[in-house]
Amino acid sequence: MGSCKLIILGPPGAGKGTQARVIAERLGISHIDCGQVVRGEVNGETGFGKQAKEHMLAGRLVPDELIIDMMLGRLSGRSSYEGYMLDGFPRTVVQAEGLEKFLTAKGEKLDYIIYLGISEETAVRRLSSRRYCPACGAVYNIATMPPKVEGICDKCGGEIKQRPDDMPDTVIERLKVYEAETLPLVDYFRESGGYLAVDGDKDGEEVTEEVLKAVKAGGRCK
Ligand code: AP5
Repeated sequence: MGSCKLIILGPPGAGKGTQARVIAERLGISHIDCGQVVRGEVNGETGFGKQAKEHMLAGRLVPDELIIDMMLGRLSGRSSYEGYMLDGFPRTVVQAEGLEKFLTAKGEKLDYIIYLGISEETAVRRLSSRRYCPACGAVYNIATMPPKVEGICDKCGGEIKQRPDDMPDTVIERLKVYEAETLPLVDYFRESGGYLAVDGDKDGEEVTEEVLKAVKAGGRCK
């Protein structure tokens, strides 16, 4: 399934990053995490990062034209045989249209669109206890998935931190932005082949197995 192309959608805290990492590894494809790319550019104080920073810290989306340019730039060097899981892109209908136009021009298509649904209560609970490693991107949860040594990343030994946009007021804003700007994508993709809706409130391993089973049964990936 090495050429499979998927996107994963869902509210903040749905488990997109957590699932995308595992599912991409199991399918033998790359995981492209748009939020992590944006954070890397902000931390590196690049031109894009400087423009994106204030939007991200306020819980808003980075303007479509900036994100589309950056993400399509990253995808354009890949061959059609290279599969990937896009996590956090597209996030608006304009971004989805930009991606589909780009893929069509290359004779490619999206094979699966995975929608992870969770309640607002779950989102707030998970994000307030999430921690991450800025050095390698590993994600933890101090309530349910803490690192072995408090404050230290299991994978690279870096210091783990709370994301500035996981503060309660910013989380509420992100959920509002999600509802207004990203939820319409569910309707945009619902009728397309390969749309899979999964209950993200379930245990993480159950979610992974459900997605992999549906992807294998769907037969859209080689
Ligand atoms: P981004 O980093 O993508 O943030 P997000 O979409 O809000 O998603 P999150 O990373 O918060 O959540 P997740 O669903 O990945 O959950 P996770 O797996 O970590 O984007 C950040 C910002 O960048 C945006 O706000 C925007 O400003 C900008 N940006 C990015 N892309 C953009 C775009 N396309 N256009 C414009 N702007 C863009 O899990 C959360 C926690 O829950 C973790 O602690 C995890 O351990 C735990 N957990 C996960 N699954 C389970 C489970 N099943 N059971 C129990 N705990 C679980």
